[in-house]
Amino acid sequence: MRHLLSVDDLSVDQVEAIFETAAEMHDVQHRDVKKLPALRGRTVVNMFFEDSTRTRSSFEIAGKWLSADVINISAKGSSASKGESLRDTVLTVCAMGVDGLVVRHPASGSARQVSEWVDAAVVNAGDGTHEHPTQALLDAYTLQRRLGSLEGRHVAIVGDLTHSRVFRSNVLCLTKLGARVTVVAPPTLMPAGVAAWSAAAGFETSYDLDAVLPHADAVMMLRVQRERMSGAFFPSAREYTVGYGLTRDRLRLLRPDVPICHPGPMNRGLEIAADAADAAQSAVLEQVSSGLAVRMSVLYHLLAGEEA
Ligand code: NCD
Repeated sequence: MRHLLSVDDLSVDQVEAIFETAAEMHDVQHRDVKKLPALRGRTVVNMFFEDSTRTRSSFEIAGKWLSADVINISAKGSSASKGESLRDTVLTVCAMGVDGLVVRHPASGSARQVSEWVDAAVVNAGDGTHEHPTQALLDAYTLQRRLGSLEGRHVAIVGDLTHSRVFRSNVLCLTKLGARVTVVAPPTLMPAGVAAWSAAAGFETSYDLDAVLPHADAVMMLRVQRERMSGAFFPSAREYTVGYGLTRDRLRLLRPDVPICHPGPMNRGLEIAADAADAAQSAVLEQVSSGLAVRMSVLYHLLAGEEA
């Protein structure tokens, strides 16, 4: 594994190897001294050209717990805000001898583009509406820990699919691991071309959340991404919640052992009610702690010199 740009680039064996290492990394979180020497002498740069709380801090802590030197660069506060091109920014940083670049950028395809300019290992931490592979890996890892194997399990992915890189990476990852996936959205937030993709990739689509929830083994709610919307995709927030929110009433349609996931940040009261986000069956914070283990594993496989 040279870069991690898309879930599509990973074989099932590679995904399993990442999960195996993540399970070992998970134990580090419960130690007094949270440090492994694996990436000593390696330098990782987190380049975030879009806002982030959990992904950026997760990559930063992951690198630090593996003893790498980690620095963060964001668009605000870097020369990108003075008009420097992405290529110049990336080449400048890499001229300092960087081993790993973790890139989040609003342009779809940017991570792959960056990987063509540099020798460093590149991790896609979210490129526009395209992909967010470590999110999908951590989601699948979390679900596997809860459900055992994902083979034949039915996962419902619900919400703003059009603007979601999390949905795209998750469909690739979950179907790769043998899960049955149904994606649910209002017609205005169902991406163009999804019919052809779902037929080719073998997942289902639905506009009817109430019909899907009773048959789900896991449910993944997605954020309504207002910052990527240029027009009105639904009449009002209230109307969205009534049709597609995981409300207190809808919670009753789920079996009590069905994990509720959300990649965060959550719009409480819009796509997910507090009753669902904080329910005993919620996996939201587990996703965060699993995310750290999965990112440690990904950095380890990319930078410790071992083939996954
Ligand atoms: C997601 C993202 O940025 O793509 N969040 C995350 O990484 N945890 C989803 C989102 O922003 O809604």
